[in-house]
Amino acid sequence: MRIIVAENYEAMSRQAANILSSHVTMKPDCVLGLATGSTPIGTYQELIKRYEAGDLDFSQVKTVNLDEYVGLEPTHDQSYRYFMQTQLFDHINVKPENTNVPQGMAQDVEAECARYNAVIASMGGIDVQVLGMGHNGHIGFNEPAEIFEKETHKVELQDSTIEANARFFATRDEVPRYAITMGIQSIMQARQILVVVSGAGKADIVEKAFRGPVTPKVPASILQMHPDVILVGDKEALSKLL
Ligand code: F6R
Repeated sequence: MRIIVAENYEAMSRQAANILSSHVTMKPDCVLGLATGSTPIGTYQELIKRYEAGDLDFSQVKTVNLDEYVGLEPTHDQSYRYFMQTQLFDHINVKPENTNVPQGMAQDVEAECARYNAVIASMGGIDVQVLGMGHNGHIGFNEPAEIFEKETHKVELQDSTIEANARFFATRDEVPRYAITMGIQSIMQARQILVVVSGAGKADIVEKAFRGPVTPKVPASILQMHPDVILVGDKEALSKLL
């Protein structure tokens, strides 16, 4: 594993954008695995800047996102499709048909999971997968569990997650109860994994995930088994690894 220590969030975002930019430059039709959440927002802003400067061309790039809530319209401001459109896709020249987020409104969620696995396979796999990390070590919506779930699947959100998300909705009842997520195997099959972490609040879980035992109780710990992981973090998030 390579560790890149950045001075602060902005520097972390530039370093992560450097890595993604090199993929897009060296392989114009690369497959980028993308994440939502607060951590990669600065990275996406950097990519937009570089696109606007004429330094990056996304016209042949394909993207595949980690996860989506079940039951939210793509236009809902809490859906991950909406996040990706507003934080990245609407600002670069990626073709809409080349962007993939699980369809949260699919009638048949199991069929949607199977379709999503087929999409990933049809792209020839993911060149680089961006991952944020939850405070409990979750990656995508793969929460601490007894086993590592393999491919794309439906998950029931934990009460703590519903509670944490309730602030974004008018009422607690509106918070989705289920999500679709890429599984651990799909994530591990990415050729390279770029983990972004920021802030002192992530220091404990970063240490657990990368120095502790590999266990489905800390889903991110499986990343220790991947041959090409780059961990980019600010000093606070990496303080217990250094
Ligand atoms: C996002 C995702 C989540 C986040 C994680 C960290 O698509 O799948 O696993 O990466 O919850 O979120 P932030 O970056 O907000 O700390």
